[in-house]
Formats: sequence, structure tokens, C-alpha cells
Amino acid sequence: MTDNLNNSSEGFTMSKPKISLIGGGQIGGNLALLAAQKELGDIVIFDIPKAEGMVKGKALDLMQLRPHDGYDSNITGTSDWNDLKNTDVFIITAGIPRKPGMDREDLLGINLGIMKDVATHIKEHAPNAFVIVISNPLDAMVYAFHKVSGFSKNMVVGMAGALDSGRFRTFIAMETGLSVQDVTCMVLGGHGDSMVPITRLATVGGVPVTDLISPERLKAIEDRTRVAGGEIVKLFGNGSAFYAPAQSAIEMAESYLRDKKRVIPCASLCEGEFGVNGYFIGVPTVIGAGGVEKILDFTLTGDEKAELNSTLDVVKKTVSETGL
Ligand code: APR
Repeated sequence: MTDNLNNSSEGFTMSKPKISLIGGGQIGGNLALLAAQKELGDIVIFDIPKAEGMVKGKALDLMQLRPHDGYDSNITGTSDWNDLKNTDVFIITAGIPRKPGMDREDLLGINLGIMKDVATHIKEHAPNAFVIVISNPLDAMVYAFHKVSGFSKNMVVGMAGALDSGRFRTFIAMETGLSVQDVTCMVLGGHGDSMVPITRLATVGGVPVTDLISPERLKAIEDRTRVAGGEIVKLFGNGSAFYAPAQSAIEMAESYLRDKKRVIPCASLCEGEFGVNGYFIGVPTVIGAGGVEKILDFTLTGDEKAELNSTLDVVKKTVSETGL
């Protein structure tokens, strides 16, 4: 993180962290709102020149929300990379979302070119930033960002497991009628239909869900979790989920900026953890002031290992299609 303490003649002044959102569409707009409401720092919404008016307008609208909400974050919109210098945290949603009938992998052709361009600019303008990638297909996009930027592995992470685990938690809370606050669970692996919900470790208030929900209903919840993004794509008809993805990424950014050391399932670069080597895949990740500080490796059952290997095959295939 950059040093935010400046010694002025009048004493210490604290400058706020700078959070730059690459892509100011559906997720980008919500990221700006949520980051401002948590007062994580000052926020810049960046988009292509064609969308400059849109992001400037969103920024102004969010500034005018300040008197009602009371946050003091400064929010601006731009299409000029020079405005992103000294950024502390980037959150990247640049690219196109899915339409009904599309897999996340179908977005690769268009979004890869965008990610390469974004990575090159970020490397030039803010080489010390912490970067959270959201664009899909996630596991390949975060891999591409890492390859092209050359950033160290602790400063690059993908948002997927946080969202997938949140969806799993949501469905368990809906099934049991109990508070979602007390549901703990994790979803590992790639951000696609082959993701791996670790149901064995899911609890409500510490009580195993396997003692609360029948095996048939648990299976249905796992299946719904795997395709939860697609369920929303179908309902929208034109675009993909944005509220929950935005909040999931904000949790990650907050953990970095406030050194919370939260344990969040994230797409992190594995070098041996869970038997995975050289790929970004969803694993329990400690995020603190050092970025990705640690991956919490633990022993999977034979079935879980087999499922993780299947999801890894899907990730490897998409990554190989990037040609990187
Ligand atoms: N640089 C910056 N922004 C870009 C670029 C680029 N090179 N190319 C496209 N964008 C912008 C678009 O102009 C648009 O405003 O990215 C924004 C994407 O916003 P939406 O189309 O509303 O998509 P959103 O729902 O926010 O999803 C973005 O996240 O979850 C993933 O699959 C989803 O890949 C998609 C991404």
C-alpha cells in the first residue's frame, strides 16, 4: 500500500486510499456505491472514451448521494489512464457480460483482448496496486492479468469463490429459515458449473448442515449454487448479476485496505496448494495489508479431490485458449 500519511506544516494529514474501478457498467456502478458507503477511500470510475459521459454522470450522481448517506468519499469518472496514477486498489469489471445460453467461457475472445490492454495500462500507471479481477471467464482473466502485468502473485486475485460461497450460504439460509449470518460454508475451484461446494464443512451456527438438511435437498442446493449465475442471466435476458458480485469484491478490497486478514475463497495463484501448480483457482485465501498473504491448504476427501481435479481441467482448458 502507498504511504497515506503526509507530514504537513499543520501536523499530520491523512490522505485516503485511491480505489479505481476499471469498467463502470452494472458491477462498476455498484462497486462505487458500496466502496463509498464503507468509506474505503476516494473512488475513480474508469471506462472507455465512448462511455466517459456515463461514468462521469454516475460519479456525479454518487457525489449527490453524499448528503443523504453522509459518506465523505470523493467520486470521479474518467476515461484517461493518467487519472489512475497512484491507485491503491483496482477492481476490474471491464468486458462484456453473459447473455442467456452463454457459458462464461464464451466471453473469452472479447474479454481477453480487453484484459491484456487493461493489464498493460495498470502496469504503467500503478505498478504497486492490489488488483481484484471480476471479468469473466474469471479464472482465465485473472491468469491473463497476472501474466501480462508481471505483478507479484500476492497482488493479484480473482473474485469468484466469495460470490459462489455467498450463493451457497443464501440457499442454505433459505432452506433452513435460519439467519444467513450464521451460515458458514465455502465453494472452491473454478468459477463455472464445475465449482466445488464443500458441503461437509458447511454449518449453521456451528451445527453441520448435514444434520439439518436431507441429502436430497443438499444435493439440490449444491446444484443450484453451481448454476446460480446462469439462473440470474436467464431472468435478466440481457446481462449478468451485479449486486452480489460487487459486494463480494468490496469485502476483499476492505480486507486488504484495513488489514483484516479475512479468510475468503478467492481465485489465487496456487503453487502446490491443493496439489495445484501454476493456476489461479478458488481456494481459502487470507487477504491483509500484504495482499494475498496466505492460502489455507487443508486435506480434502477423495471425492472432493476428484471434483477439484475436474474443475482444474476446465480452468486449464480455458487458460490454454488464452495462448499465454
Ligand atoms: N476499459 C475499460 N472499460 C471497458 C473496456 C476497457 N477496455 N472495455 C469495456 N469496458 C466497460 C464497458 O464499456 C462497460 O461499461 O466495461 C463495462 C462492463 O459493464 P457491463 O456491460 O454492465 O457488465 P457487468 O455486468 O458490469 O459485468 C462485467 O464482470 O461478472 C463479470 O461476466 C461479467 O465479464 C463481465 C464483467
